Amino acid sequence: MDATTADRSTPVAEAAPAVPWWRHAVVYQVYLRSFADADGDGIGDIAGLRARLPWISDLGADAVWVNPWYRSPMVDGGYDVADYRDIDPRFGTLDDVRSLLADAHALGLRVIADIVPNHTSAEHPWFREALAAEPGSAARARYLFRDGRGPGGDEPPNNWLSIFGGRAWTRAPRTGDRPAQWYEHLFDPRQPDLDWASTEVREAFEAILRFWFDLGIDGFRIDVAQGLVKADGLPDVPPGVGPWVGGLSHPYWGQDGVHGIYRSWRRIADGYPGDRVLIGEVAPTEDDRHARRARFVRPDELHQVFNFDLLAAAWDVDAVATAIEAPLAANASVGAPVTWVLGNHDTPRQVTRYGRASTAAPSREEQARSHPTDVALGTRRARAAALLLLALPGCAYLYAGEELGLPDMDDLPDHVIDDPVWRRSGFTIRGRDGCRVPLPWSGDAPPFGFSPPGVGTWLPQPAAWAGLTAAGQEHDALSMLALYRAALRLRRAHPGLAGERLLRVPAPDGVLALERDAGLRCLVNIAGEPVAIPAGSRVLLRSDTGAADGDPLPRDAAAWLEPAP
Ligand code: GLC
Repeated sequence: MDATTADRSTPVAEAAPAVPWWRHAVVYQVYLRSFADADGDGIGDIAGLRARLPWISDLGADAVWVNPWYRSPMVDGGYDVADYRDIDPRFGTLDDVRSLLADAHALGLRVIADIVPNHTSAEHPWFREALAAEPGSAARARYLFRDGRGPGGDEPPNNWLSIFGGRAWTRAPRTGDRPAQWYEHLFDPRQPDLDWASTEVREAFEAILRFWFDLGIDGFRIDVAQGLVKADGLPDVPPGVGPWVGGLSHPYWGQDGVHGIYRSWRRIADGYPGDRVLIGEVAPTEDDRHARRARFVRPDELHQVFNFDLLAAAWDVDAVATAIEAPLAANASVGAPVTWVLGNHDTPRQVTRYGRASTAAPSREEQARSHPTDVALGTRRARAAALLLLALPGCAYLYAGEELGLPDMDDLPDHVIDDPVWRRSGFTIRGRDGCRVPLPWSGDAPPFGFSPPGVGTWLPQPAAWAGLTAAGQEHDALSMLALYRAALRLRRAHPGLAGERLLRVPAPDGVLALERDAGLRCLVNIAGEPVAIPAGSRVLLRSDTGAADGDPLPRDAAAWLEPAP
């Protein structure tokens, strides 16, 4: 948005044929358990997704990213993989994936799988073998088994804490004569971390990538992508630094060695036809996070990394502007596009976050308390934020359900909470299930067409969602769904939104004004007085329902404008 980004502007007509699809795609994230249940067990599945592909295509997405579907005990919703080459029976079969790919490709949709290389499930044959094996064995060398400290090795090997709460070490049962060892896990104890110093681990994952690429997968979202390599000797985290990140370099985030892994993965992806992509979940929170992230998208590494700055930013002009400017500048230095994300399966949905007193993504401590939510306010802001998101150059990620304006379900009964964070935090942090409630497709009462009538869904749906079903919004021109569809249609068709140029232009206090090609502007009134639609502009789309094109743009609303003919 400064001179650097403006200079990157390319005339659309020349750039179009050479621009790979992923530089400007809209990717629709499907949390499989919660999307659509075809077999009637209350859990979403691949056949359910397959049946809704035309709906996703009509919405205007270019690709679908599907959260893990592998065989798993589901300790962490499938982020605990027991077999990387098979589908969990709850979700279907490999044949279902083949059919899904065929249908998606026929519709022009790409399918991105989710790969989980930092850890396996404790049920993975490798880990079972490791538990049964002696300290120092080859089977243990695939994971991070270490002797404990102190007398009898009773103290964990270092001070690392788990992101889900508690220590990052669990003591394994004793085998042989030596004291029992400990194994490391950044997440749940049932998600033991692999040791990426092991050639066997590296080769196994390269073979897994090939397996899915051969099947026709168009790319991978890489889970915990910055965490695979741990510092030599597994040193303590410096005092005062939290398990996630805390302003200092960590012994497990973004270690130099991780980049070599992705260079080799990139060579594999490039060996396949059709622009296969690699997207890293890289989420540093340090002040230099933009530069750190950009290192992952150098030309021979990943295609994209997630940029969670907008998802984390408060509804505030400066915060939002910085969340746009800083990643654009950092990625421009390596020639990579930026990804934009407002929500996902790990964080409160926009309607909820923007409807609370504190609109930044909640910290761990904040997650332990419940917060009053003004859903109407949150919805107005979520509508404005959607127009902002979709006006930005680069790749936009949509989390299924945001196009319906779903809020989180904050009052899930304790006994249905499935997120391991709940238990690991000693039942103080309710975790992420509130944004994972099964989608309401149709009808007046749960299961709202998600499952066949009468079936209980894996998380209960609120009765209040009767007003938010996809079918109900279908013919309502003022619905969130109608707004997303209109914006996505314009994003595809309007030449002003095709290039990579973005410029911040002067605007009244509290208002953000961004300009794309051909004078197309996105005006977002975040906290200002109502702002007049500039003379000589034509309104393409506005987020505030019921307003006439020429009405001043109120607070918490956005508009797309183009120069009047
Ligand atoms: C990522 C996933 C999250 C999961 C964690 C461990 O952050 O998005 O859902 O719990 O990794 O795999």
